[in-house]
Amino acid sequence: MDTRPIGVFDSGLGGLTALRELARLMPEEDLIYFGDTGRVPYGGRSREILVKYARQDVAFLRTFDPKAIVIACGTVSATALDVLREENAIPIFGVVEPAARAAAHVTQNGRVGLIGTRASIRSGAYERALEAMRPGTAVTARACPLLVPLVENGRFRPGDVVAETVAAEYLAPIKAAGVDTLILGCTHYPLMKAVIGGAVGPDIALVDAGEQCARWVKQQLEWDGLRNQRPGAGRRRYFVSDSGGDFSELASVFLGEDVHGEVEQIDITAY
Ligand code: DGL
Repeated sequence: MDTRPIGVFDSGLGGLTALRELARLMPEEDLIYFGDTGRVPYGGRSREILVKYARQDVAFLRTFDPKAIVIACGTVSATALDVLREENAIPIFGVVEPAARAAAHVTQNGRVGLIGTRASIRSGAYERALEAMRPGTAVTARACPLLVPLVENGRFRPGDVVAETVAAEYLAPIKAAGVDTLILGCTHYPLMKAVIGGAVGPDIALVDAGEQCARWVKQQLEWDGLRNQRPGAGRRRYFVSDSGGDFSELASVFLGEDVHGEVEQIDITAY
């Protein structure tokens, strides 16, 4: 039993989709979320910058003495997980391995689609993980940079002609490749599940990287005897690096509940 909190971070607020899953699966755990809203988006940045930002994000969360850190961000998981693991002697979880494991398990025909940010796709991390877990898997990957701003502007619901048009164009080559499984490798895509599912059709299974990661974290903590067994609901704390924007509005979209009044701002460059 370990009552210390779990730290979770993302480039912004999209990672709240993963936090929601963690909270659903482990309601008694204390969760501390950091969203780097002052420097979002990460998805188009170089590995060098991403590693620098990720180190600061982790250093901030470590001030709370967490028992584990979850990288909710697909981009950081794909580009900086190895460095963060090397430098930190606590469990660091990313979304790539659990998503790849789920896809390797789900696919029947060995053809898997992948969508994410430019940096995630460029990294090749999902291909490497899939090759290790299911050798010979054919991956058709596509960067979808327009999906993040669409979601952040509330344009993710079925019937939204802009969202449906953009999704259909991005997903056409993936569908044409004959995949039977599609990894949603970005924090924002779970909100577009209905639109994405509509674009690819019912025969392609969608794997939500954040959801798979949350399940994996729970399992690992259980195996390692690190779960908090204390009865009652865990505490949630939210930190951001920019006061601007409509945190509570956007956060409630990603989280499905109002977090107004519980958000603190920090200077991430100090870490
Ligand atoms: N959080 C990022 C990811 O999951 C998406 C937003 C961004 O580009 O920063 O890859």
